[in-house]
Amino acid sequence: MKLMVTGGAGFIGSAFVRMARRRRPADQVINVDVLTYAGNLESLRELERDPGHVFVRADIRDRQAMDGLLRQHQIDAIVNFAAESHVDRSIESAAPFLDTNVGGTLTLLEAARATGSVRFLQVSTDEVYGSLGPTGAFEETTPLAPRSPYSASKAAADCFAMAFHHTHGLDVVIARCSNNYGPYQFPEKLIPLMILNALEGRPLPVYGDGQQVRDWIHVDDQCEAIDRVLLGGRSGNVYNVGAGNERSNLDVVRAILALTGRDEGLIRHVPDRPGHDRRYATNAGKIRGELGWLPQHDFGQGLADTVQWYRDNAGWAGRVRSGAYRDYYERQYAQRLGPTGQP
Ligand code: NAD
Ligand code: TYD
Repeated sequence: MKLMVTGGAGFIGSAFVRMARRRRPADQVINVDVLTYAGNLESLRELERDPGHVFVRADIRDRQAMDGLLRQHQIDAIVNFAAESHVDRSIESAAPFLDTNVGGTLTLLEAARATGSVRFLQVSTDEVYGSLGPTGAFEETTPLAPRSPYSASKAAADCFAMAFHHTHGLDVVIARCSNNYGPYQFPEKLIPLMILNALEGRPLPVYGDGQQVRDWIHVDDQCEAIDRVLLGGRSGNVYNVGAGNERSNLDVVRAILALTGRDEGLIRHVPDRPGHDRRYATNAGKIRGELGWLPQHDFGQGLADTVQWYRDNAGWAGRVRSGAYRDYYERQYAQRLGPTGQP
């Protein structure tokens, strides 16, 4: 199989590429990533000398480049991870989310359609379903009700993908994933940001009351699920992916403080995120039943391993936090935490 993976220098995409190369050495992976602030070739270091992995710096919005790559490499399937992925950034400025998540996905769909015979796996999010009350879980049939500019852009991309299936007969499958954690995650997201701040003895900025709930999944379980959807998902179907690890943000932060040997006095309740979704929970019964997928990682152990990974990879974390990310952190948290790190 010849696989095009977009966004393969990002957090989940790079884990997926590493897994695909280990698992199917006879296949070829064409990894297409434009290397935004979130893309990092260091996450692919183990594949530097692997002839089955071809990295191409290109933008999924570039139709000519996408056509050329699909033709040149005779691609059988596309796994589209490439996206602007952070909710807080989408609140600061939504335009890049429209451009890449909607426009880029549409460009790729058009390019795939032109080849006539490509499987298209759209990597989506459970956030397209909106926010839950205290009970219940998202089903694949739950109506789309996105509430952040990020989730609105992902929902629009899902709609285009399904429209291309129904209108043009494109072989489309969608995986809607819950919150991922694990190695190589960019430290703007909750878990790596809190781990690094805790390791450095800096304040941990908890939005609002911290009682918002997310359903956490280890990135390796996520990649296994995506692989199963790629190989066995029924065309035109959506598969929810979640591991049933519902935790409040405050519980996650407390667990990180315990694992890093820090005091809860580092917690700072800061002004809430506008439009903050209260709770996500995902029913993954369909992928379990149809494709035999089962998560393998216990959340407590996975979190401990992740803390250890950030301890062991301080150099990686230091380099990704230089430059542009530092500016973002200052903008995002200066008002919330104040210049001295106090709210
Ligand atoms: P990430 O931000 O770590 O990586 C995104 C990658 O896409 C980066 O390498 C970036 O350089 C690349 N990219 C961005 N714009 C591009 C463009 N125009 N052309 C080519 N490449 C481009 O994101 P992630 O956390 O790995 O998420 C991957 C996918 O999974 C996204 O589609 C996201 O919406 C989805 N998702 C993520 C989570 C999560 O918890 N991280 C949960 C559910 C769904
Ligand atoms: P995040 O990792 O941004 O993922 P998402 O918004 O896609 O779920 O945030 C996870 C949760 O953590 C979310 O409820 C917002 C909260 N959060 C904080 O409380 N403080 C922070 O500094 C960050 C980045 C997130």
